[in-house]
Amino acid sequence: MDTRPIGVFDSGFGGLTVLQELVNSLPKEDFIYFGDTLRVPYGNKTVEEIETYSSQISKWLVQHDVKSIVVACNTVSCMALPYLQRQFSIPFFGMVSAGIESVLSFSSAPKQSNKVGIIGTKNTIASRVHEKDLRMAGFEGVLVELACPLFVPIIEEGVTDDGVWRSIVEYHMHDMKKENIDAVLLACTHYPILSEYIQGYLGNQVQLLNPNHFISDALARYLKDYNLQNATGGSVSLNVTGSTLSFNAFCHRFFEFRNDTVSVINIDSLI
Ligand code: DGL
Repeated sequence: MDTRPIGVFDSGFGGLTVLQELVNSLPKEDFIYFGDTLRVPYGNKTVEEIETYSSQISKWLVQHDVKSIVVACNTVSCMALPYLQRQFSIPFFGMVSAGIESVLSFSSAPKQSNKVGIIGTKNTIASRVHEKDLRMAGFEGVLVELACPLFVPIIEEGVTDDGVWRSIVEYHMHDMKKENIDAVLLACTHYPILSEYIQGYLGNQVQLLNPNHFISDALARYLKDYNLQNATGGSVSLNVTGSTLSFNAFCHRFFEFRNDTVSVINIDSLI
């Protein structure tokens, strides 16, 4: 038994899709969420910036005595996970291996074709980490990769207009739709929020692969194997570097947390 909380971080709001999954599957754990909403997006930042920001956030979480950290951001997972693992002695759980598991579990089922799309930020797609890891894991199907840079800003800006969301999904995914893919991996934690629009545009014959439950399974297994489970927790602390107003509105629109008071962390205190 270990009552220390679990740290979860993302560049902004998107990691809440991961947090929601973690809270649902590990209801007795305490979670500390950190959204770097002042410096979002990470999808077009340099490796050095991503390493600096993610290491500042990890340090802050370690100071808050977390027992492990979930990097609920595919961009950081692709660009800085090995760097973070070298810097800190606590275990990190990243989104890439969850994405790989998600594609492999889809591709292992018998089917006629095996053509999988991967969508993510510019950095995630340019890193080609998913492709390398999938090939190493023996995936032999066709991969179609695509960066969708406008998805994150429309979510972070709280755009609620259906028409805007539909046309941005069409704008980005037009070429991918022509490829007749069988499935698409949502390799950005913001994207499950757009699931309905992505599914609507690509059609029901395309399976959307959301890696979130694979990361929560990996964390649950680790806590069990090392006897680090908490039986008495259940709190969620939400922390952001930007405005709490937009964060609160976002939380209330998409998520249900039991303790959703949001704190602002001064960015200067992270350095
Ligand atoms: N939510 C993040 C991801 O999973 C990054 C979005 C961004 O900051 O550009 O990649």
